[in-house]
Amino acid sequence: MTEHETQAAAVVLAAGHGVRMRSDLPKVAHVANGRPLLGHVLAALDPVPALTRKVIVTSGRPEIERAVAREVSAGGISFATQQPARGTADAVRVGLDELALDDGTVLVTYGDTPLMRTETFEAMLRAHGANRAAATVLVARVSDPTGYGRVVRAPDGTIERVVEERDATDSERAIDEINAGTYVFSARALRAALGRIDSGNAQGELYLTDVVGELRSAGAVVAAVEAAEADVAGVNSRAELAEAAAELRRRACARWMSEGVTIVDPATTYIESSVTIGRDATIHPFTFLEGDTALGERAEIGPHARVVDSEIGPEAVVTFAVVVGTRLEAGTGVGPFASLRGGTVLEQGARAGTFVELKKTRVGPNSKVPHLSYMGDATIGRAVNVGAGSITCNYDGERKHETHLEDDVFIGSDTMMVAPVRVGRGAATGAGAVVRDDVPAGALAVGVPARVLEGRARPRRGPEGPEATA
Ligand code: UD1
Ligand code: CA
Repeated sequence: MTEHETQAAAVVLAAGHGVRMRSDLPKVAHVANGRPLLGHVLAALDPVPALTRKVIVTSGRPEIERAVAREVSAGGISFATQQPARGTADAVRVGLDELALDDGTVLVTYGDTPLMRTETFEAMLRAHGANRAAATVLVARVSDPTGYGRVVRAPDGTIERVVEERDATDSERAIDEINAGTYVFSARALRAALGRIDSGNAQGELYLTDVVGELRSAGAVVAAVEAAEADVAGVNSRAELAEAAAELRRRACARWMSEGVTIVDPATTYIESSVTIGRDATIHPFTFLEGDTALGERAEIGPHARVVDSEIGPEAVVTFAVVVGTRLEAGTGVGPFASLRGGTVLEQGARAGTFVELKKTRVGPNSKVPHLSYMGDATIGRAVNVGAGSITCNYDGERKHETHLEDDVFIGSDTMMVAPVRVGRGAATGAGAVVRDDVPAGALAVGVPARVLEGRARPRRGPEGPEATA
């Protein structure tokens, strides 16, 4: 492969201590808007077709590999360990060794810059080829350059070197053009320059930034690509982590609004990057959409809803509720003040109402659990009504047991269903019943423990299902 061909390798640096985070967790494993910092960088690199091989340089801490497991499954990614962390130049050398790369083009980026965009990486690779450069440096003009390396330009406007803040003179510190921490290099030129730098600086580290000045003094072409300030922020502290997360949230809201989603108050709407949302959905304030969540068209979520790893069907309405690992089919309703937990399914038109908790429970089409109920490990048929205050006693202190309510069942208020138990098709229970034995189809069971009242049918109901909800 010759230098300016389209294929390139990527080295992502993620081995630093992250001292300024004051954390036991490696910095790049910290999460912003649902994804580790390093995961954001990998997600932005992933769509760049030219980057056929990627190596992540880490400190060897398993949290880092775990944090990126999701992005890594995309393939073509390997890890290399830098131990101890002797600076960004040393980390790049470790990455090049892992890639066994002495020739060709290499893109270097830092795992703590989660706002980087795919287009920026692509623009850099293009500019590098077009300029036949030895190094292409991403730069940005920023309102506050504190903490960043400053770009020192020669009188002719070309980049002369990068100086780290701690090594900069007062006049250099006044420069508002910063090194964004992403570079494209000719691997050969990079290797040579890495061999020429030393750690004679304020931090006693091997700075990758010194390579820029090295190449320039050797007469090589150092090009620059300019990025927007909002795209290059590095995260070194918890405050910067929060700022980066806020920017990621703004982007998510902007994207979904442009795709036809109404977001009433973007400032209080939290949409993780893994979420998908259908056209004409409405998201009310204080809503959190997390993980593998998909919202259907015209669904209405919030105010005050948290939806995690759930599928919300078209025209479903969820208000003041926590919905986790749940599938809501079309036209279902949840809340206010409902908690739907893992393995729950509401089939078409079903409803879970006020102060209702459902766990591993399937609620059949048009069935209702409207008030003050706990249903766990239950299978509920179609057009069932569960009266207020009714619960499944699904746990005997040792094991969980199942409850089955067949089609057209009417559960009277405050019924305790002591699982395992089955209420047959069209049967009913009286208020306060404690149902320990199965109730046959069509029967009415009352009392404690519940007994079938012979010669009595269940209460009347309309053709569309129960007339009253409780
Ligand atoms: C670095 C740049 C600075 C730039 C800024 C952009 C250097 C010397 N300085 O400063 O010019 O403006 O990023 O955000 O490069 N890392 C390793 N191994 C190490 C040291 C660091 O893998 O031995 C990794 C870190 O995990 C991090 C990245 O390299 O992801 C940058 O390191 P960091 O210490 O954050 O550098 P900055 O001081 O922010
Ligand atoms: Ca940094």
